[in-house]
Amino acid sequence: MKNIFILGVVSILFGCQPKADDHSKELQNQINNLKSELSETYKPGFGEFMGNIQVHHSKLWFAGEYENWKLADFEINEIKENLENIQKYETDRSESEMIPMIKPALDSVSDAIQKQNLLKFKSSFNLLTNTCVNCHITTKHEFIQIQVPDMHIFSNQKFKM
Ligand code: HEC
Repeated sequence: MKNIFILGVVSILFGCQPKADDHSKELQNQINNLKSELSETYKPGFGEFMGNIQVHHSKLWFAGEYENWKLADFEINEIKENLENIQKYETDRSESEMIPMIKPALDSVSDAIQKQNLLKFKSSFNLLTNTCVNCHITTKHEFIQIQVPDMHIFSNQKFKM
């Protein structure tokens, strides 16, 4: 009796096997399709994030110079956001591991903005710019030379409040 019962259970299990196989094959196909779709999804490159940072680096300077502290705060946060995105999306680039080196300079600029201290802002901005330069040198991109801007190119935006 017990043997017949076990036989019954085993045959039911085997009976289900092809169906379960079909189902997992179908799931695997769906996973493969999703994986290939994901790999085709557009993702900005390291250089594109940097180009974005360059824009905010420039705007940050003029916002600070005109003591437009709200705008300066906005711009420094845009830089931080872009750097976080590099860490999130550019994991296959070894340079991403060096992003934390810029944190002290960013903190120093943020602090000057909070304190609305123009003198500290200018010296922190110099430190920030030197850090951009240092990372480019370390990552063999010494030909990308960043400097404190001397004129603002966004004439369609007012920096003076
Ligand atoms: C962690 C290291 C690192 C830091 C910090 C860094 N950069 Fe870069 N930057 C790079 C690398 C690497 C590239 C080359 C990207 C590529 O391969 O496309 C680059 C490229 C650039 C480019 C060229 C993009 C273009 O379109 O011409 C600009 C501009 C730039 N960075 C600006 C900055 C500014 C401004 C800062 C500071 C606020 C900064 N970078 C800080 C590593 C860094």
